[in-house]
Amino acid sequence: MPQERIVSPKPRPDETAAETSLRPRRLAEYIGQEKVKESLRITIAASQKRKETLDHILLYGPPGLGKTTLANIIAAELGVSIRITSGPAIERAGDMAAILTNLSPGDALFIDEVHRLARPVEEILYPAMEDFALDIVIGKGPTARSIRLKIPHFTLIGATTRYAMMSPPLRDRFGAVHRLDFYSPDAMREIVARSAQILNVAIEPAAVLEIAQRSRGTPRVANRILKRVRDYAEVMADGRITMPVAAEALKRLEVDGLGLDQMDRKVLHAVIEKFDGGPVGLETIATSISEEADTIMDVYEPFLIQLGFLGRTPRGRVATRAAYDYLQKPYPKSRAQAEANQATLFGQ
Ligand code: ADE
Repeated sequence: MPQERIVSPKPRPDETAAETSLRPRRLAEYIGQEKVKESLRITIAASQKRKETLDHILLYGPPGLGKTTLANIIAAELGVSIRITSGPAIERAGDMAAILTNLSPGDALFIDEVHRLARPVEEILYPAMEDFALDIVIGKGPTARSIRLKIPHFTLIGATTRYAMMSPPLRDRFGAVHRLDFYSPDAMREIVARSAQILNVAIEPAAVLEIAQRSRGTPRVANRILKRVRDYAEVMADGRITMPVAAEALKRLEVDGLGLDQMDRKVLHAVIEKFDGGPVGLETIATSISEEADTIMDVYEPFLIQLGFLGRTPRGRVATRAAYDYLQKPYPKSRAQAEANQATLFGQ
């Protein structure tokens, strides 16, 4: 059966335009992430008051939570242009230098996957971020000398799913670091209702709740599910998303009550059945289910950890009792005993 990959890290090309139209354009329209919004509001207002460029900002967290959306919003709030690129797209130091020298004063530069910048490219950024300068080396060997070229003041907005993979010198040059978390159930409901309104589709409140609950706290997933459910409602019903229509469409998408799809279940099954519940290394899990380790780490694992189904230990990933219960597998007696002994040892 062809499988629908609801949680793929990148939007599908045919969905990009529609997805863009669902994105909020200003902070006032942006639902959720209250702390990040509040902090951005203050720093943006302060920089405008002082007539200075905004400090460089780093946004990190799992995919689909709104890092790119927020970068565009920051530029819109500042009233500046934004240049958008990504770490792997900038191959040589010269490319980075060209981008920086072409910025206009006050512009924002958004670098997605900033943890994937090549080291020589990153090194061009250090003086650019700190002193708005490029250090150019002229000549070679003992006669080589460095000249400093001024560039316009700009705001770098970096985004990453892998904060830990960023080099400390780059990390340290961001004036503000914001972590985006999975959205609350209330925020998810508001987002689904807002998107349905923009898409001009009638939807019952119970169906809004159902889609929100099954979207793993991730707006990108919610919007994609909503669009698939809308397709189903248009073809198999009268176009309105009622609760039975939503339930049937979600069943066909193989998204369960918690928002887990086939791949999430495959990860849990592998850890429990092939590796006795772990600990097992991420690469080993990946090979056993023919998926890339990076995808598991970025896309699947964060939500499984958030649900309390998977734990990270120094020796690898472990499935928790909740994961066994969820898959209706008996929790091994040896594990239960080991946990009981540990609890006694620590006087719990
Ligand atoms: N669409 C996607 N993410 C959103 C958000 N955080 N707020 C409003 N609409 C959204």
